[in-house]
Amino acid sequence: MKKVAVYPGSFDPITYGHLDIIKRGLTIFDEIIVAVARNSQKNALFSTEERVDLILEVMKGEERVTVDTFSGLLIDYVASRRAHVIIRGLRAISDFEYEFQIAQMNSTIGREIETLFMMTSLQYGYLSSSIVKEVCSLNGDIDRFVPPEVKLALKRKYGLT
Ligand code: COA
Repeated sequence: MKKVAVYPGSFDPITYGHLDIIKRGLTIFDEIIVAVARNSQKNALFSTEERVDLILEVMKGEERVTVDTFSGLLIDYVASRRAHVIIRGLRAISDFEYEFQIAQMNSTIGREIETLFMMTSLQYGYLSSSIVKEVCSLNGDIDRFVPPEVKLALKRKYGLT
């Protein structure tokens, strides 16, 4: 049976930190569904469609990765895709409490879905989409944090090209 995992998030925008988790996830799973949350409580810079397009662009050629959107409860979405595992990246102790709470709630709601936490690689431990957006908006160098396609999209958003 194919091992399929869902990697959910807001991806506003996708960064090298997320790509690192996807790459390492592919050593464990046959297929990863990157699931962009439609109604995240965050005030997004990019529309859902723009976020999906950026992920598709940077994942071009990787046939084991698909990109989708979801709204409503994550575990309902995961079940609808007949997957059994949710991948989450953990950056710091500060992430743990929130992630632990959500994972516990998801396992209480049921449906035999596991959450797999992957430690973010050392070089991305401090990274977040918000911090990248802030650095870019202030005309800072973001080459080490996002792929060129994402950098261009960010620069366009901030009227810096
Ligand atoms: N490296 C670097 N940065 C990373 C990272 C990594 N490996 N993994 C995550 N991040 C950053 C993201 O860029 C993001 O930064 P930001 O806050 O500046 O935008 C931050 O960490 C966390 O983002 P993300 O992983 O996308 O999670 P989220 O909190 O935005 O979204 C959902 C979480 C969408 C998965 C969650 O809210 C959800 O499942 N919602 C659906 C409703 C639901 O089922 N709720 C649960 C009820 S129990």
